[in-house]
Amino acid sequence: MTIAIIVHGGAKTITEEKVEANNKGCTAAAEAGWAVLEKGGSAKDAVEAAIRVLESDPTFNAGLGATLNKQGEVEVDAAIMDGSKLGWGAVAAVQGVRHPISVARKIMDEKPRLLVAESAERFAAKHGIEMCPKEDLVADEQEKQWEEQEKVIDRPNTVGCVALDADGNLVAGTSTGGTANQDAGRVGDTALVGCGLYADIEKGGCSTTGDGESIIPVVLAKTAIDFLAQGKHPEQAAQMAIQSLTERVVGEAGCILINPKGEIGWAHNSTEMAVAYRTSEMDKPAVFTKKEGVDPKVYASNRH
Ligand code: GLY
Repeated sequence: MTIAIIVHGGAKTITEEKVEANNKGCTAAAEAGWAVLEKGGSAKDAVEAAIRVLESDPTFNAGLGATLNKQGEVEVDAAIMDGSKLGWGAVAAVQGVRHPISVARKIMDEKPRLLVAESAERFAAKHGIEMCPKEDLVADEQEKQWEEQEKVIDRPNTVGCVALDADGNLVAGTSTGGTANQDAGRVGDTALVGCGLYADIEKGGCSTTGDGESIIPVVLAKTAIDFLAQGKHPEQAAQMAIQSLTERVVGEAGCILINPKGEIGWAHNSTEMAVAYRTSEMDKPAVFTKKEGVDPKVYASNRH
């Protein structure tokens, strides 16, 4: 049976000095998820394991290293979707939780719903999920950038993972600190099924990244899955989804996809996007900070 995993560390600008950290972080996340799948573990466990790695790495905008809001605080969103049952769980505007993806997973396992702020934090504490003082998630670099907003060029943007397990199940997960200097309480696409993620065992799985205000109106993850359902290869479906966003709204975005056959696709209209993936046909993950062969300017030239 084919197994496959793909992770992203965000559609964004990656400066030369950050390439290695992005490559290392995405590779480590893909390997953590792969280790689960290889032992016959579930796609749910693989997605959670991979995203926990990215949430622990200050290179990425999720968990530790999340961008700060206008109050200078970390406030995060995350969601997971199980393609076998169309089950899902999500949290938004949460503070003091090291691994929001694990809270979303626990919610999904109990009953599907989106919990926000103190309600999600209470749920996490009640279920023994690791809590911390909210200040502990403020990474030095993010604090510095928050103080020097106008100098920031390397804005991190969201992490995600899609996995196909040996039982043929597809699961997608996404986790974010939102956008830099966002209003406290602002929630983007990440926690919203259809926008930040989607998984359906019969069609495929998708995790997205980018500007939530642009992703939400085009329902980006479900749009990509609909292209898969029309029989498009994931590479083509990913490009068509990003193209359709670029034609209708202004904003940076990217997506990763796996179809039920374990084929991979990804696309972005940002200058860079950190990605790593591995399938049964590979002996180690492939890692990228940019999709070669597709000029982001192609998307830009179509903007209305
Ligand atoms: N894609 C993350 C956000 O807009 O919040």
